[in-house]
Amino acid sequence: MSSSPLVMMVDPMHYEVSYAINPWMTPGQWARDPDGCRQRAVDASLQLRDALVRAGCRIEWAPGSAGWPDMVFPANAAVVLDGRVMMARFRHPQRQGEEAPFLAIFESLRERGLIRQIERMPEGVFQEGAGDCIWDAARGWFWAGFGPRSSAASLDVLRDYFGRPVVPLGLASERCYHLDVCFLPLSGGEILYLPDALTPQARDELHRRVPASLLMPATEEDLRHFNINAVNVGRTIVMSRTTASLRERLEARGYALIEVDLSPFMMSGGGAYCMTLRLDRTSRQDPAAASPDQARAAA
Ligand code: ARG
Repeated sequence: MSSSPLVMMVDPMHYEVSYAINPWMTPGQWARDPDGCRQRAVDASLQLRDALVRAGCRIEWAPGSAGWPDMVFPANAAVVLDGRVMMARFRHPQRQGEEAPFLAIFESLRERGLIRQIERMPEGVFQEGAGDCIWDAARGWFWAGFGPRSSAASLDVLRDYFGRPVVPLGLASERCYHLDVCFLPLSGGEILYLPDALTPQARDELHRRVPASLLMPATEEDLRHFNINAVNVGRTIVMSRTTASLRERLEARGYALIEVDLSPFMMSGGGAYCMTLRLDRTSRQDPAAASPDQARAAA
């Protein structure tokens, strides 16, 4: 039996929405009631932690740093697989200062034996962590977004470092600025994704690799609720408050949902997935997850 997932979250004490580097961010709304917003964010973060624990996760609670409010989105800090860590390089100056405190966090994880190795992206190559490089446990490869944030050149670096295939998916719009906003591989091989968010080339790539029976096109409404930005553990999916229609679609595929009100973080353009970072992923095929072929046979 595999041990329970180990998930990093970052303490929201220094979280705020004080700038806008994606179209969802609303610093004006935050400024009208900063104390109330901060309090609701702390509550939401604790509720997400509880939901992840209910889903069977262990939580690694890391400190934030004053002045770097988006550290609450550790999915952007690094890509982690097999105990190896590729540190992110952020495109925007507003987030570049997160690199040093996150490096310190990963160094202490290494000292504790929770990870083995830390590497840095070459200078000038942007890559925003697991938010743009999503492990597909059912298939044994990464899906990697590029365009708005991560550079296309980051994909080769990731492939060489992790020794696993990295499938490029060009992102077509600023509102889906990270792949995790619009793309979610599930343990049974299904992919919940927003077709419009991908370039035509990326859509072709997806259709070549995934049978239609496993493709679950998401809606604009799913995007607006940040429901695609979800954490999947086995047959459980933790996500921001959703709609009856998406809940029914996922339940029909055998998934159980745990919903959390994450609106204070949606004000920054984030949801459940990007508020977390899996630290224990391995490239070994998860025996609990159906292979895509099994899933296809079952469909
Ligand atoms: N305000 C953050 C940014 O624009 C939100 C990041 C959310 N992360 C994600 N992987 N979707 O960078």
